[in-house]
Amino acid sequence: MSKTVLITGSSSGIGAASVKVFQDAGWRVVATMRHPDKSPLFENMENVLKASLDVTDSRSIEDAVSLALDWFGPIDVLVNNAGYGMVGAFEASNEGQVERQFATNVFGLMNVTRAVLPGMRAHGGGTIINLSSIGGQVTFPLYSVYHATKFAVEGFSESLQYELAEFGIKVKLIEPGPIKTDFYQRSQDLTSKAGLHAYDSFVGRTLPNMQESGATAPGPELVARTIYRAACDSSRRLRYPVNSASMLALRKLVPDMVAFAIVKMRLIK
Ligand SMILES: NC(=O)c1ccc[n+]([C@@H]2O[C@H](COP(=O)([O-])OP(=O)(O)OC[C@H]3O[C@@H](n4cnc5c(N)ncnc54)[C@H](OP(=O)(O)O)[C@@H]3O)[C@@H](O)[C@H]2O)c1
Repeated sequence: MSKTVLITGSSSGIGAASVKVFQDAGWRVVATMRHPDKSPLFENMENVLKASLDVTDSRSIEDAVSLALDWFGPIDVLVNNAGYGMVGAFEASNEGQVERQFATNVFGLMNVTRAVLPGMRAHGGGTIINLSSIGGQVTFPLYSVYHATKFAVEGFSESLQYELAEFGIKVKLIEPGPIKTDFYQRSQDLTSKAGLHAYDSFVGRTLPNMQESGATAPGPELVARTIYRAACDSSRRLRYPVNSASMLALRKLVPDMVAFAIVKMRLIK
């Protein structure tokens, strides 16, 4: 009997690539996005239910989960993929920007998780797959608030695994390095404050290098295949690096000062 996966943020990048990988493998896929009516993706695709879900809107989470249950029955796997990066000098940000970043990347992920748990417990198991990042363990300049959200996702997931193991529910963290998607363009939320120019030189010497790493990176299919592997992995393994394994391993081996020097050398010109 085929399994069901619900994926958030399916309108582009890693989410859209994941819909295709699971569907190709014969799964039933609930491809959720903020504006399904505006997206040409996944129309009339066999075993794919396109549904509206904004992770910052509790009502839309509840509606999408109950639609999925009515349509396909129990949700075996949740992929908490929706997220974006707030980038730029922190001083140039405003409270609303920071709150939106946490509302999407952290509270949204938590709220979707809470919504699927009763069904997974009743069904006797399931898998929660959370999109973290290399940036959940290693930091880069100008992404301070984004890193704060991904460090939060790491801590949340690592602790959650203990209580959910009691019910046969696994938690997985996907930790991609740079991946070529809309993350570095359309989706990014750049900070700016009228009259504040003190950071212009630093931003000018750094941001293009960050964007260059995205432009020359592998495509989202690589991450989608890792997400699929994590979904099928019956072990208790928590972390799955993608295009990030050497940097994550190095970060564990070297002291802070060495890690910071490497980041500065590579990213601040
Ligand atoms: N690309 C990378 O280098 C990279 C590296 C590490 C981790 N990641 C993580 O991977 C995940 C996917 O990013 P991506 O690279 O595939 O970028 P992307 O192409 O920009 O996709 C982001 C997705 O999140 C959706 N989204 C944003 N806010 C949402 C909300 N409130 N409710 C529902 N969906 C929302 C977007 O929907 P709209 O189309 O409506 O905006 C879009 O579908 C993110 O969590 C990101 O942090 C990416």
